Amino acid sequence: MVTESALPEVVDFWRNHAYDGWLAKQDVPVHRGYYVEDARTLERGYWSLRGCPAAVISLEGHRGIEHVHVLEIPPGETIPPFRMALEEVIYVFEGNGIANVWAEGQPKITFEWQKHSLFRIPVNYNYELSNARGDQSAITLHVNLLPMAMGTNPSEDYFFNNPYVDTTQLYGNQAKFYSAAAQPVRLFGQASFSSGARSMGYEPGSGTGTLADDRRSSGSSMRWYGNFFPDLSVWDKLEVGGGAGRLSYRGGIFFPGSAFSTSLMVLPSRRYRAAHRHAAGVTIVGIQEADGFVLMWPEGGDYLVAPWKEGAVFVPPYHWYHMHMNAGPVENRQLRIRAPRPGANPSADSRRMIPFHEQDPWIRQKFEEELAKRGLTSLMPEEAYTNPDFEWDEEWLKED
Ligand SMILES: [Fe+2]
Repeated sequence: MVTESALPEVVDFWRNHAYDGWLAKQDVPVHRGYYVEDARTLERGYWSLRGCPAAVISLEGHRGIEHVHVLEIPPGETIPPFRMALEEVIYVFEGNGIANVWAEGQPKITFEWQKHSLFRIPVNYNYELSNARGDQSAITLHVNLLPMAMGTNPSEDYFFNNPYVDTTQLYGNQAKFYSAAAQPVRLFGQASFSSGARSMGYEPGSGTGTLADDRRSSGSSMRWYGNFFPDLSVWDKLEVGGGAGRLSYRGGIFFPGSAFSTSLMVLPSRRYRAAHRHAAGVTIVGIQEADGFVLMWPEGGDYLVAPWKEGAVFVPPYHWYHMHMNAGPVENRQLRIRAPRPGANPSADSRRMIPFHEQDPWIRQKFEEELAKRGLTSLMPEEAYTNPDFEWDEEWLKED
């Protein structure tokens, strides 16, 4: 007869996520909650894993999906080389410098990054970041899928001490992908932009009105493809997208062989888009001087208001409604970093979007109050609030 106290203790990874166990052992400040007002100014502490000051951002909508942190590279310094058996997407909040990327035993690939650069490190490639400036720190934002991966394999050694590397990622004919010239591509299996929009549930007839023309039904599904995008703040390879009630300028950015999907969304001044909801795991980053706010709420719950400006980070939690309100005088430019399906993909949900005419009147009131504080007025079409069949025109995005 074995007494219970004599049994060996084991970790139940069903209830105790391996990622949470790993994070609890890290000597780095962890910021939780629903949003971060400015990731660049979060309290940082020396993180021995990375050998530099850092802060982890582990928001409600990241749980079980994405790991996010910011690193500070002190003036003139190079932080220790690092690699892990997961890809990493890096966005540069501040500064400029040099990146060396290489597979073990292979030559280094070097490129220069600057404020607003976006790049990707493939699985298990070493990378080393140097701050080229002697007068200010560089601040970088890093996103990987460690929570999702450790949900299937709790072995820390597998991710942090794994010799496997696929050298074809950067040493085959794809080496050019660290050049500044991203190439346009069409996505396999996506016949047109409009079918993509439909799969996201933005088709006409969903109660948010219609589009004035159907130009995009035969339009492109072009995305930009590369491992390095030098300056997202001036990236102008955008097209109108989003569908009725959700119009904005968008630009899809894809990395070769990557599980991430990233994109830019640019919402002109004094506008907002209909609330919607979907699964968690979309990290949204303010990458340009901006002024506005984000509303998020669970069905039947209270509104959470998050300020929106450069450096803001938020992740809509699972099935929370969210909407971005540009209440300022300048366009709002966001970078979205999406985890693979099913994390970032909406499920079949007849209430995935709230049409303007069904929207809580408080939302409009709040938007107009915020504009008034800044001496501005709304550019939302009055009729959109009353007419379910309101015809949206892409030209509306150009109104001023
Ligand atoms: Fe969303």
